[in-house]
Amino acid sequence: MNDLILKQVESIIDPKLPLVSNLSNVSSILKQTKDLNWAGFYLVQDETLYLGPFQGEVACTTIKKGNGVCGTAFLKRETIIVDDVNKFEGHIACSKLSKSEIVVPIMKNNEVLGVIDLDSPKLARFNKNHQQILEKIAELLAKLFY
Ligand code: SME
Repeated sequence: MNDLILKQVESIIDPKLPLVSNLSNVSSILKQTKDLNWAGFYLVQDETLYLGPFQGEVACTTIKKGNGVCGTAFLKRETIIVDDVNKFEGHIACSKLSKSEIVVPIMKNNEVLGVIDLDSPKLARFNKNHQQILEKIAELLAKLFY
């Protein structure tokens, strides 16, 4: 993953489209990253995360604030990188394939609107560079939320 993915996201998103259409295409772009088994979104509704557009295996639909990696990123309002999901207490295992994970909150006016979630079958797949790129993508996407 490099800055090219930012350009791809910028060129695919269209503020005139429904949010779900934009996020669906962005999930496809994200999933093209090497060594991923899952890429997608959870979106906040009533202080809970619900499954949004994604590419990969069937996933859990509802994650409470503070639960799992996604719910922790939501609660803490910060990106979480997990090198080994088996060592993250409370990790929610949607797919047996997932070994490492990164979750990046999408925020507007200090409020979390959703999260970007990437899962890899490789240990320690994600680093600070991925974090930086995904946080820039999250900023772009935040503008699309109503
Ligand atoms: N592993 C996540 C749940 C979502 S799936 O990875 C798609 C978590 O612990 O929050």
